Amino acid sequence: MLRFLHTSDIHLLRLDGVMPWRYVGKRLTGRLNLALHRAKKHDQALFDHMVAQAGELGLDRFVVTGDLTNLALETEFELCVEKFETIPVPVTVIPGNHDTYTRGSEREQRFERYMQPYMQGERESGDYPFVQRFEDVALIGVSSAVATPPFDATGQCGAKQLARLRRVLQELGEEGLARVVLVHHPPVDGLSKPKHALTDRSAFAEVIAASGAELILHGHEHVRTDTALPGPTGAVPVHGIASGTSVVQKPGRTAAFSVYDVSSSGFTRELYEWNGHRYALLDA
Ligand SMILES: [Fe+2]
Repeated sequence: MLRFLHTSDIHLLRLDGVMPWRYVGKRLTGRLNLALHRAKKHDQALFDHMVAQAGELGLDRFVVTGDLTNLALETEFELCVEKFETIPVPVTVIPGNHDTYTRGSEREQRFERYMQPYMQGERESGDYPFVQRFEDVALIGVSSAVATPPFDATGQCGAKQLARLRRVLQELGEEGLARVVLVHHPPVDGLSKPKHALTDRSAFAEVIAASGAELILHGHEHVRTDTALPGPTGAVPVHGIASGTSVVQKPGRTAAFSVYDVSSSGFTRELYEWNGHRYALLDA
């Protein structure tokens, strides 16, 4: 049994101390403008409220499915680590497209360098996916984060990672564990525009159809969605969650998080949404 909180797309921004030369070039100026524009849509205080409430929820774990940052800067990752250290339970993260925002950040494996303590687990060939086991439950962390040109927020898992994912799901399934797959981009059709989509989602779906999973969690679109992928013995639920720091007040897009109780016999979900004062439990 594992009880965990799922949040995503927290987009924590910190530019203090970043040398101006980083932004002088055309390459980053546009991206900085985009980030500042996006910053108006997020309030980091909402993440602090979430962390404060996390202590009251009897959690075993706190899960963030990517887009922790905006520009994948060192300052942003340092801020994430500072915030994560205040969370009263262990944290699991996977990367989103903003966490490998530039080729430099991807080349340096900046996300992995800072976030490695939150991605401990079994890894074939030292690569994604990583597997964290908790008695009869496994969290399987997939990376769909790849550096892309500006205005392109696509993701890709890649054939090698998907081959490893297929083997891992098969093995964990044979052991009877409840398999919770974490991936930043929605792995289903119809949720993302072409420039925002997981480009190899059909290959991902084939893996799930062959090997199965009990639950797939994602972020990226900043909206709450319940979809599914076909599995070998029935539909596999695919749940997306709104951004954990969104100031938007629209149905499904208001800042939210979910709390899951997962065991080998199934799962339940509680949904919490920001009501202007606190994250309040929504009626199912
Ligand atoms: Fe994203």
